[in-house]
Amino acid sequence: MNNTIEHKLQLADKYSARIPRYTSYPPVPQWNGSPLQTDWMQEIYRSTRATEPKGIALYVHLPFCEDLCTYCGCNKRITKNHAVEAPYIDTVLKEWDSYSQVLPDRFKLSELHLGGGTPTFFSAQELKRLVSKLLENAIPVGEGWSVEVHPSHTTREQLETLYELGFRRISIGVQSFNKRVQFLINRIQPFDVVKEINDMARSIGFTSVNMDILYGLPQQRVEDALADIDTIAELRPDRIAYYGYAHVPWKAAGQRRYSEADLPTTRERILSAELGREKLLNMGYHPIGMDHFALPQDALSQAFKSGNLHRNFMGYTEQHADILIGLGVSSISENKLGYRQNERVVEAYSESISKGEIPVIGGHTFTPQDADISTIISNVMCNMESALPAALSDKQWNQLRELAGDGLIELSESKVKIKDHARMFARSVCAALDPQTQIDSEVMYGQNL
Ligand SMILES: C[S@@+](CC[C@H](N)C(=O)[O-])C[C@H]1O[C@@H](n2cnc3c(N)ncnc32)[C@H](O)[C@@H]1O
Ligand code: SF4
Repeated sequence: MNNTIEHKLQLADKYSARIPRYTSYPPVPQWNGSPLQTDWMQEIYRSTRATEPKGIALYVHLPFCEDLCTYCGCNKRITKNHAVEAPYIDTVLKEWDSYSQVLPDRFKLSELHLGGGTPTFFSAQELKRLVSKLLENAIPVGEGWSVEVHPSHTTREQLETLYELGFRRISIGVQSFNKRVQFLINRIQPFDVVKEINDMARSIGFTSVNMDILYGLPQQRVEDALADIDTIAELRPDRIAYYGYAHVPWKAAGQRRYSEADLPTTRERILSAELGREKLLNMGYHPIGMDHFALPQDALSQAFKSGNLHRNFMGYTEQHADILIGLGVSSISENKLGYRQNERVVEAYSESISKGEIPVIGGHTFTPQDADISTIISNVMCNMESALPAALSDKQWNQLRELAGDGLIELSESKVKIKDHARMFARSVCAALDPQTQIDSEVMYGQNL
């Protein structure tokens, strides 16, 4: 074991507090309330009519899955009843109508992402009905749309239909190939199934394949996580997301299927993260943010190199949209005024839409200083460095000096830079730069390490 890993193991306890994931700034638990509907729509109206409008980004949450994977922390609804498909798509399209009224006759669309749940729970016909309508007045810009698929629930017909609609990127949920782990997470998914979907997507013409794999799953040993990397490397995906499993049984009851004693220790998590990272770098992948890896020619690697990497609720992207419209249950939207999130429960969301109400349960209205901190947090998470805010409290300086003293960052009067080997501590750096950090295990999602 090399010194860097030994050093990180020593720091693990110190920095293993539950802190926000910083997928947004401020993080969801610190949101102060949604902007008014009229202001929200006016902002979309205004910014899509700017002289040089950037494209808008669209996210659609398709929540249904046929079987429960017990590890899963996503917002999903388990059902084998496919009669739910058509009414759900009707509802999403009705929600889309409310936006169509403020969008120009033709608008630039830079991103369209179908996430879940399992988008491929829906038939090819329903997916086509949804996407064709969303694209009706869109001028596509960018490198094609993206979709998350569950390899055991995806057909050639679905992939061909999505390809015809302009989808070029596919994200395949792999998680783990280990049989013991697969049993505990209720996701029996042999390598051949993943390979079949991968080969199918490539043969149809998808140009970018991402695979999600996890470390820290119940009864997953370090060598199991590393073996998974070797296995998917055979398929040479363009991108690999190597996530640490987040144990949040208070919001994902399926995780009670196993006990905390089944979970790897912090030491094992760090070893899996670090040895996995080393392996991926040796295989020629470039690190993107904390836990993503991309081949050098991939758009994300190129964007990182040129300082154009961005991040939104859908993940890392090389596109920079001013407006993100999230449709469907639990989706989050963003514009210059702030964030807002839709109802998290299918029935409540559908009822709200059918009554002509706004299906929003919460949000955040940006304060003047949010903009600065938000840029700083985004720089840290994308570029691993940032200028420091104009004012930092003594407490914040102390936290930063401590991180510097532990050899994780380079710190000057005006700048912070995360050392290459310390990317996994990026969230701790964000927490030190966030004047409002609250550590609260009940509301924060996921573990730092
Ligand atoms: C919506 S899910 C996957 C899409 C598809 N339903 C599937 O199962 O393949 C998106 C990703 O979130 C990640 N994820 C879900 N639960 C997680 C957890 N508890 N901790 C860390 N990552 C998680 C998984 O890697 C998963 O692939
Ligand atoms: S991992 Fe995917 S298929 Fe499994 S429950 Fe979560 S969203 Fe559904």
